[in-house]
Amino acid sequence: MPRFEVRPFGDVLGADIVGFPFDDFSQDDVDEMRRAWIEHSVVRFRDTDIDDATQIRFSSCLGPFVIHPRQLQQGKHTGHPEILVISNKKKEDGSPAGDLGDGEVRWHTDTWFKERPPSAAILRALEVPPTGGDTYFSSMYRAYETLAPELKKAVEGRSIHHQTVYDGRGEIRLGMSKPESDDVRTWPGVAHPIVRTHGESGRKALYLGGSPKYSWIIGLPLDESRAILDQLWAHVANPDFVWRQVWKKGDMVMWDNRCVMHRRDSFAPDAIRLMHRTTIEGERPV
Ligand code: SIN
Repeated sequence: MPRFEVRPFGDVLGADIVGFPFDDFSQDDVDEMRRAWIEHSVVRFRDTDIDDATQIRFSSCLGPFVIHPRQLQQGKHTGHPEILVISNKKKEDGSPAGDLGDGEVRWHTDTWFKERPPSAAILRALEVPPTGGDTYFSSMYRAYETLAPELKKAVEGRSIHHQTVYDGRGEIRLGMSKPESDDVRTWPGVAHPIVRTHGESGRKALYLGGSPKYSWIIGLPLDESRAILDQLWAHVANPDFVWRQVWKKGDMVMWDNRCVMHRRDSFAPDAIRLMHRTTIEGERPV
């Protein structure tokens, strides 16, 4: 018998996990929760009142940690290297005490520019602004299932070249330099299939990565690739398959990076938002 309750939000994505025993959970409890997560793609724990060590112990039951590149920069947690700090807080010297500031974060999947993007991200709210900073999750299973037939046919068996030079904000990544040519097809990058099959659920999901700007559908002329990518990116924001998380302090949300995209609203610069995220290794998309 599970030691907690699963309350789905609807038939597209998301469920509340109510009563998870954070004080004394076992690997069996996490495995049971994982089954609900695979079914619903996003799960939320409310009023958690847990500390960093408990978030890390819980996360470690899901697989090895990924150290996000930003964890080595402004998202660094001083005590726990497993945690990425997402915040607009400032240190005493005025430098950022967390990553992503107070701005909007556009639709993306996490770390799509790696050969093996993460499977899970677990985000816990320590401080939340009175309004704004909501996070939205879009089901890429549903996005795939509802693609127009001609678009489905156009992307079948195709992959995207995800360049690794610029990040989602258009800044040059650590260790990279401005390419000599404007032709994105010559830039360093990784290729991932546009439609991936989830390794655990066996379902097909659309997989667009994190930034439409410099992506290229391998093998297509650039203008044709651009036209298709624009249609695909417009499709993922369809409110029919988007769920919105309005954060409360103590909420912890875990999403499946293999089958959802997410984005975040901006919030007032004079409000404080502080989130701690752990990220779990995934497999190469196929
Ligand atoms: C992210 O992981 O993209 C940030 C999500 C958020 O701050 O709500």
